Amino acid sequence: MARFTAFLILSLVRLAVAIPAYESLAGFDEREINEFVTRNGVAHIPNPPAPLPAGQDGLKLVNDPVHPFIAAGPTDIRGPCPALNTLASHGYLPRNGVARPDQLVTGVMEGLNLGNDFAKFLVYQAFLMNGNPLTNLMSIGMKTPETGPDPPKPALVGGLSQHGTFEGDTSMTRVDAFFGDQAVFNETLFQEFIAFSAKYGFNGTYDLNAVAELRNQRLLDPIATNPELVFTSPRILSAYSEAVFPTIFFVDGRLNNRQLTIDAARHFFDFQMMPTDFHRQPAPVNFTLVNPLVNEIFNKHPFTPGVNHGKNNFVLMPNTPALSDFCGIYEDIVLRVIPGQYPNPNGHLKKVIKKNLDFFFDAVSAEHNCTQVFPYGRDY
Ligand code: HEM
Repeated sequence: MARFTAFLILSLVRLAVAIPAYESLAGFDEREINEFVTRNGVAHIPNPPAPLPAGQDGLKLVNDPVHPFIAAGPTDIRGPCPALNTLASHGYLPRNGVARPDQLVTGVMEGLNLGNDFAKFLVYQAFLMNGNPLTNLMSIGMKTPETGPDPPKPALVGGLSQHGTFEGDTSMTRVDAFFGDQAVFNETLFQEFIAFSAKYGFNGTYDLNAVAELRNQRLLDPIATNPELVFTSPRILSAYSEAVFPTIFFVDGRLNNRQLTIDAARHFFDFQMMPTDFHRQPAPVNFTLVNPLVNEIFNKHPFTPGVNHGKNNFVLMPNTPALSDFCGIYEDIVLRVIPGQYPNPNGHLKKVIKKNLDFFFDAVSAEHNCTQVFPYGRDY
């Protein structure tokens, strides 16, 4: 027994030396990864949070004294999503910008009243592309050592700012990665947001009319200027959903008229701050509410996914699922995008990825009739 303990300690010491904290686990075999995981006590994966209880899922003051705005400090991470940035700055998410998926689900439910399925759909999708499945942590912005040692490459664990995963081209208030920092708020683009709201929105607000026109413009512009534009699944879905989100979640729930004032938009997008006295949505918002709005803006300016081969040379990609093909996009994420980073996971890594894939599918299937697909087989 003593010999065994000594062996264990020795091997752990060896491992501690061999794997400096925060470095990639690439090159280590499955046993060493598992030992590392055991030693660090990481990768306990809690089940996704339940919906907010009835009676506690309604209209509520969310910019409250318990959740004061505190501007991000120099070591706090913020990224491309104005909602998550804001929630972190109010303490609905860890203020340092590194969070577990369950914290993210809870944070968006509590802070903005995302429905449970909808929250899980966004969070587990993002986590599978951008998080660290071993430590169960994800950065809401740039890649950081704070998410712990990475699984072997080609896993990226890049955080939400990682271009070409969840983050992609044609954002409304961020430039395409080809032009600069794709995660940071861009005032020039925000001026366009204001101009389109003034021209198309009711009383200068960002409403569904303004969304449809701005969203279309934000595709036409990069087609003309970004030689490396990529506008295919899964980015098409997030791009069109995110255009609609502010008309729902950033509008005070007491008014709830889907007309976002520029002042409120400035707060969320630029200041990463809820307006004073802000109330969240009066009821949890799920796909049933969001999907028709996305369809409506798509129908005003339909598009076919594609990529630029040089400026103004948009080559259609008819084989990537269309925006209307939700299950096709789900399958594309699970069978192409995720195996791109985890081509052949083993042991513990495989187990935790599969767990997150199951969480993701639960959310997908809650309001869509999709069939689960299994990139790594059904066995656990
Ligand atoms: C629940 C989990 C969420 C995750 C993981 C997430 C993640 C992201 C990511 C990765 C982006 C960057 C995409 C890009 O523009 O390239 C993004 C953008 C965006 N997100 Fe979120 N998001 C979440 C929830 C929300 C919610 C609740 C809102 C509500 C308003 C929201 C609003 C937006 C908007 C408006 C953008 C686009 C910014 C722009 O185009 O300038 N997100 N989000």
